[in-house]
Amino acid sequence: MTLNPTIDVAYEVDRMFHTRKMRTKSEFYSPGGGGINVARVFVRLGGIARSYYMAGGATGDALDGLLDLHQLVHNRIPIAGHTRVASAVLETKTGKEYRFVPPGPSIRPAEWQACLDELENAHCKFMVLSGSLPPGIPDDFYGRVVALMRRRNIPVILDSSGPGLKGGLEEGGVLLVKPSIGELRQLTGLELITPDEIANAAMGVVHSGQAEHVAVTMGNDGAILANAAGQLFLPAAPIEAKSAVGAGDSFLSAMLFAISIGWDMGEAFRFGIAGGAAAVMSPGHDLARPNDIQRLYQQVSGIS
Ligand SMILES: Nc1ncnc2c1ncn2[C@@H]1O[C@H](COP(=O)(O)OP(=O)(O)OP(=O)(O)O)[C@@H](O)[C@H]1O
Ligand SMILES: [Mg+2]
Repeated sequence: MTLNPTIDVAYEVDRMFHTRKMRTKSEFYSPGGGGINVARVFVRLGGIARSYYMAGGATGDALDGLLDLHQLVHNRIPIAGHTRVASAVLETKTGKEYRFVPPGPSIRPAEWQACLDELENAHCKFMVLSGSLPPGIPDDFYGRVVALMRRRNIPVILDSSGPGLKGGLEEGGVLLVKPSIGELRQLTGLELITPDEIANAAMGVVHSGQAEHVAVTMGNDGAILANAAGQLFLPAAPIEAKSAVGAGDSFLSAMLFAISIGWDMGEAFRFGIAGGAAAVMSPGHDLARPNDIQRLYQQVSGIS
């Protein structure tokens, strides 16, 4: 489920300037937003996914076209507002990436209600709620979806920030939540410096019953998994970092794919580590590629 999808546009320029025109070298469009990214990697790995998303306006139609191009099965919940366009500009001289992310269209009450109604009919083994809440959606929206899915016995995976993360967890009973370290700090209001502090905060979420498994991702510092079995820290896979775009989404998608084929949580978490690194090593906007994920997984699990 992607409440606030994007059309992602990627460019390359030699140098960033103000005032003068910057001629870009390339132009690349892809369908994006948390849930859509998760679905894209999931399908690349051989899984079956359906994307639910809210979209509207001419840009919403363009998003549909991109989803078709990527052969993704999709259910659009129509809205009056225009789907946002997010851009990423790579300055090739410095290797720096600049990312522009609009807040997205305002959602009307009848529209988010229609979204809840649509989810009443969703048939799936897992429901992934990923991405920020667009303007106009109540803070407890993800909480409402969690309650709805509980009633229908569909486990929920949550990846959001700020009010989206807080509202989703408050309902309780999420299967897996994936806050980045920044998101966990914001959620708890704690500084969380040492690995112990981070693991304890994640364990607090488990003990409160808000989520059964908590995977805290910490960029190139790796990730921590907390659940009833205890805590597991894994360092990041050693790779040459090219672009952080989609690292968290690729991590989550790889981890869920492993869960969906019956792997235990610890091993699925390791597959997620491989997924996150695979996204970071692929240049520009590209998400994790399955061959890279498999190869990195063998590397981090010492199979090779
Ligand atoms: N430089 C890196 N090298 C290797 N692996 C990385 C690197 N950066 C990220 N990863 C992997 O990807 C995972 C997810 O990255 P990260 O913690 O940045 O999540 P995120 O959701 O993209 O963050 P945010 O939501 O704050 O943008 C990490 O836990 C790690 O396993
Ligand atoms: Mg993230």
